[in-house]
Amino acid sequence: MTDIASLETDTIAAIAAAGDEGALEAVRVGALGKKGSISALLSTLGKMAPDERKTAGAAVNVLKDRVTEALATRRATLREAALEARLRAETVDVTLPVRETGIGAGRLHPISQVMDELTAIFADLGFSIAEGPDIETDNYNFTKLNFPPGHPAREMHDTFFFKPDEKGERKLLRTHTSPVQVRTMLSQQPPIRVICPGRTYRCDSDQTHTPMFHQVEGLVIDKKAHLGHLKWVLEESCKAFFEVPSVKMRFRPSFFPFTEPSMEVDIQCSRKGGEIRFGEGEDWLEILGCGMVHANVLRNCGLDPDEYQGFAWGMGIDRIAMLKYGMPDLRPFFEADARWLRHYGFRPLDFPTLAGGLSA
Ligand code: DAH
Repeated sequence: MTDIASLETDTIAAIAAAGDEGALEAVRVGALGKKGSISALLSTLGKMAPDERKTAGAAVNVLKDRVTEALATRRATLREAALEARLRAETVDVTLPVRETGIGAGRLHPISQVMDELTAIFADLGFSIAEGPDIETDNYNFTKLNFPPGHPAREMHDTFFFKPDEKGERKLLRTHTSPVQVRTMLSQQPPIRVICPGRTYRCDSDQTHTPMFHQVEGLVIDKKAHLGHLKWVLEESCKAFFEVPSVKMRFRPSFFPFTEPSMEVDIQCSRKGGEIRFGEGEDWLEILGCGMVHANVLRNCGLDPDEYQGFAWGMGIDRIAMLKYGMPDLRPFFEADARWLRHYGFRPLDFPTLAGGLSA
């Protein structure tokens, strides 16, 4: 009997001393497992005389029940303590500043940034934004812009054509943003002052050409708009875009079917040390095409050329983005490489404004 009593004391003490569920399980196996101390006691009962077995059996069973209960109680206590400790260790301090995620970590593509900059600059000059579809009709992309059918200038555009539809009409991916001029004149009455940024497509690919690229078109139509206005608008917008106090521009005669006269415009730059800088230097860099809207185009768009006149220009957004932000190759613009975007991209919450700085 003393055996049983001391076994109980020892086992209960071991249970109380177990610091975690693993240690408690070891105590359980040591007492109630196949080779455990209490199991050993139970196996001695069979060899006892019936009378002795009765009292001893009852005592061992009481011991077994108490130990089992003590184990369960201790296990519950240990579990609760473990949960408490875990909760304490995993507490979230809601007063800490938030980590940079989502919108803060994302970057705006330089094309989006430049479009936003152009929007801010031209909104300040009283222009609004006009848009048109990427899939255009031959009529809007060429015919209404005074490219007669069979005219060689059509071939120069390396156009992506769709198969003709049931009416025999052949749609195409617009080769320039100029069809948005047509759409604007057909849907709005002068005075018109719009810029049209968007995607354009030509079957062409090398270091400075991609099959999809971006242009921005400008159009001004009223009764008196003239070349002097065009020159002023281009100079002011270039100064604002390149963030320099002055730029010199050179207007060279050129040819576009939709303007007469037509010009190509170069801006003054320096190329010292392989780096292009605007607003200084003796070099010239071509940046856009422009001219007075051709009388045929006005007529094709329902405007009387004796009453209305105006000017237009078009330039490559990718190209001016490369020039402003020093990107040597056009192809990565369209490779969706997150590392490139992290390097050349812009923080989405820093809006370009004239007051705050376009590329601040
Ligand atoms: N559409 C011309 C092109 O893609 C660019 C252009 C030149 C647009 C002169 C104009 C313009 O509006 O007046 O090459």
